[in-house]
Amino acid sequence: MEGFEDLLAIAKQARGAAYAPYSRFKVGCALRGPSGSIYAGCNVENASFPVGMCAEASAISAMIAAGERRICDILILGEFDEPTAPCGACRQRIAEFSDASTRIILANARGAQAVRGIEELLPGAFGPDAFRRIHCEDDHE
Ligand code: THU
Repeated sequence: MEGFEDLLAIAKQARGAAYAPYSRFKVGCALRGPSGSIYAGCNVENASFPVGMCAEASAISAMIAAGERRICDILILGEFDEPTAPCGACRQRIAEFSDASTRIILANARGAQAVRGIEELLPGAFGPDAFRRIHCEDDHE
């Protein structure tokens, strides 16, 4: 599959920096915001295992810290030939800043292997819309 070479190169670089001494499974992530800027992240494990952070979470944090609020494309690169799918918690994190046009790219070192939409990866997600109704109802009180 062609394309996403820029995201792949940046995800590879981030994966190289991953801190994963416990699982030894390094993950890199690169995402593009609406400005065209690319944000990178990698997994950051911890001796207290549940405290570890996924690559997607750190890339999303970088995007938010830079002032952007929407993911146009997000590429995930794991260790193996079989592309790494985002974990359940990261699907929820991605959903927060995605829409139907967001491309979620599952990659290996050779390139993009599949492109998915958030509705495929997390059907019927609980998202920001869930609060719209409450806030509308508040407005009518
Ligand atoms: N990991 C990610 O960074 N993203 C995912 O979507 C899947 C899992 C990391 C977490 C942990 O550091 C290692 O991969 C093994 O689970």
